[in-house]
Amino acid sequence: MQTLSDQEFNKLCLFAKQNYGIDLSNKKTLVETKLLSYLAGKGYKSFLHFYHSLINDRTGNEAAFLVNRLTTNYTYFMREAESFNFFRDTAVPYMAAAADNGDLRIWSAGCSSGEEPYTLAMILKDHFGQNELFWDTKILATDISTRVLEQALEATYGEEQIRDLPAVWKLKYFEPDQNGRRRLVQAIREGVIFRKFNLMEKYFPFKQKFHVIFCRNVMIYFDNETRKQLINRFYDFTETGGYLIVGVSEAINRRETKYKFIMPAVYRKE
Ligand SMILES: C[S@@+](CC[C@H](N)C(=O)[O-])C[C@H]1O[C@@H](n2cnc3c(N)ncnc32)[C@H](O)[C@@H]1O
Repeated sequence: MQTLSDQEFNKLCLFAKQNYGIDLSNKKTLVETKLLSYLAGKGYKSFLHFYHSLINDRTGNEAAFLVNRLTTNYTYFMREAESFNFFRDTAVPYMAAAADNGDLRIWSAGCSSGEEPYTLAMILKDHFGQNELFWDTKILATDISTRVLEQALEATYGEEQIRDLPAVWKLKYFEPDQNGRRRLVQAIREGVIFRKFNLMEKYFPFKQKFHVIFCRNVMIYFDNETRKQLINRFYDFTETGGYLIVGVSEAINRRETKYKFIMPAVYRKE
């Protein structure tokens, strides 16, 4: 296997940027080390050979592999708890008071293995309690990686992932499996709809806008222009009065968005 030439690297960079918004421009060593053993194992003679297979692969498997290798799916329950607290204490009560037809729509964009949308489902369950029958709450959770979406549907987690959850939730919303892991109960699992979706798609196939969009720790891979365009599209798909919640390290430039800054990581469409 050869090393990654500048020409091959530029081709891979362009592919990742145009198709997935991922900015690899300063990451040549990372790309090389992350892909090398896979390419050797699959019998690719060079990075160029892999690149040709990538652009001709109709199944999308090679592209999915590339994205999985070069981005992280790292997540856990209650990650950046202050955003979930805001959702529980401010966004949900506001939405519940404002909704005229009992309809609440939430989107977890870049949901990884499900910890984020399932946390939202538990918050909604606690909030609405017995009254949930009168509410039509929908949590859509999307990711580009089929591997993490399969894990999300499985909904079985180790102690490390659920460590930060309140003890009462662990008892109420999880059941132990034979391998010492815990599976979310059906009532929570069925509260979330998982779909594969690339945030770079030109067309967002949603009929209705969302009251809250979570897109946390996803846009860190995107270059400024891609991030700006995506935030504008989120804005178009946010209900008036609704929120966009990003990762705590992902401040949005106020001049580049119509959302109003509420607190770190939280923006509102007024
Ligand atoms: C670090 S995880 C974040 C999970 C969760 N939102 C959190 O904050 O804990 C980032 C996720 O974004 C997904 N992702 C990256 N680029 C994407 C794209 N273009 N479209 C959809 N999902 C993408 C990755 O597959 C990964 O699962």
